[in-house]
Amino acid sequence: MPRTGPVEEAEMPTAIVVGAQWGDEAKGKITDILAQGASMVVRYAGGSNAGHSVTSDQGLFKLHLVPSGILNPRIDCIISDGVVVDPAILVQEIDELEKRAVSTARLYVSASSHVVMPYHRTLDRVDEEKRGGRKIGTTCQGVGPAYTDKVRRIGIRMGDFTDPKAFPHALHESLTFNNLLLQKVYDSEPMDEAQILQEYTALGRRLKPFVRDTAWMVGEALAADRRVLFEGAQGTLLDIDHGTYPYVTSSHPVAGGACLGTGAGPTSIDAVIGIVKAYTSRVGAGNFPTELLDEIGAGIRERGNEYGTTTGRARRIGWLDAVALRFAMMVNGIDRLAITLLDVLSGVDEIRVCKAYRLPNGKVTERLPLRNEDLAGCEPLYETFKGWTRDISKVRRYADLPAEAREYVEGISRLTQVPVWLVSVGPHRQQTVLTGQAREGLWLRELPTAGAPALSVA
Ligand code: GDP
Ligand code: IMO
Ligand code: MG
Repeated sequence: MPRTGPVEEAEMPTAIVVGAQWGDEAKGKITDILAQGASMVVRYAGGSNAGHSVTSDQGLFKLHLVPSGILNPRIDCIISDGVVVDPAILVQEIDELEKRAVSTARLYVSASSHVVMPYHRTLDRVDEEKRGGRKIGTTCQGVGPAYTDKVRRIGIRMGDFTDPKAFPHALHESLTFNNLLLQKVYDSEPMDEAQILQEYTALGRRLKPFVRDTAWMVGEALAADRRVLFEGAQGTLLDIDHGTYPYVTSSHPVAGGACLGTGAGPTSIDAVIGIVKAYTSRVGAGNFPTELLDEIGAGIRERGNEYGTTTGRARRIGWLDAVALRFAMMVNGIDRLAITLLDVLSGVDEIRVCKAYRLPNGKVTERLPLRNEDLAGCEPLYETFKGWTRDISKVRRYADLPAEAREYVEGISRLTQVPVWLVSVGPHRQQTVLTGQAREGLWLRELPTAGAPALSVA
């Protein structure tokens, strides 16, 4: 749908928030901040494998399916076509939010989104068991099997799920195949159709009022130049095509996924914000060249509270990897960075950033090898930055950060060739610092002050 009028470049009404690493980069926090000035927040991929934390004056919210803009009651929050939705988890999330006086009146779920059924969860678990030593380390949320059914074209879409006439037939077709899979391939028990039908018909009734053809809502908001924020889940290196296959998720976390998963045309996107944790974390299996298996890594894990939002698993920790980041800048078209959890590095003597890999044949490369197996032989070559000792969690102006912290931030910008727009120094909205280095034009400057971060360009 074409825009109705010319757009001032300075306004840049649409932006994608994308994880530039292996997930958990604090996409939730940054989305919540931007949502204070947005009209609509659209979650574009993944399922309840995501765990997005938002900390406001009301405390901590852990969101899995509901977009991280939900704390702003004045905007539309959309779970779009590209997301796979576990109805039991969504109902639980809605109930918990309402209990904490967070309105879900403007939450909408796409009729085209696919539903995660209980047999998808079972299949996720038994598939992991069957892999033995080659486990992916999934979140066991049924996300992979639900996307598999979608591509196999026996998935159940939200529109049919919430239609009492269509659901029994859709369930029968999908479960007949999946029960065969459970029995014949995985040597497991089949699941009871009548029981699922009863339980999930009730969930469908609960969710029906939320269901919309959301592609139209997004398209019309874009055409009217409303401020639309697309919220990614997971991270670039977990992308099914661009990640470290097979140790990836089953959807498209990359920025392009925001178009695939919502119906927004690529020309409607103005900005792509890459969320970069000041170091690297990864949950689940797969090669990780800069992984720290020593006490430095353990210290970062404790200070950063690096335990999974969804599964509680201890996250693997490593130095920042600029080789991997440059790849992320390229495939996402990232034009500004938000560097998060910088405060966690306070007290680390010397901070390292991987700037190149030495390959097993002795050659040095700055290009990320794209096969997971090839990453195993990569020796990271580091640039070292001086650390700082001071607690920076109360800093609110870029100029007030220790010189070493600014040098680190600017080093990341140099190594990725992308300006840093924002630095995060703690989980709370207010623990946020604008650098003044990226082109302005996002709506952050105009944030209302009540309940929103007191941001100012240094
Ligand atoms: P997401 O999946 O990308 O939204 O990230 P998660 O919410 O899974 O993980 C980020 C974690 O870091 C959460 O526990 C946040 O509350 C926390 N967090 C976010 N920003 C900061 C920060 O700048 N400093 C610190 N110390 N914690 C942060
Ligand atoms: P957010 O949105 C970190 C990882 C899992 C596993 C792989 C496949 O919070 O950043 P899956 O359950 O998707 O089939 O698991 O992907 N993974 C995540 N890691 N953050 C996430 O989401 C993740 N979602 C999936 O640990 O390695
Ligand atoms: Mg997370």
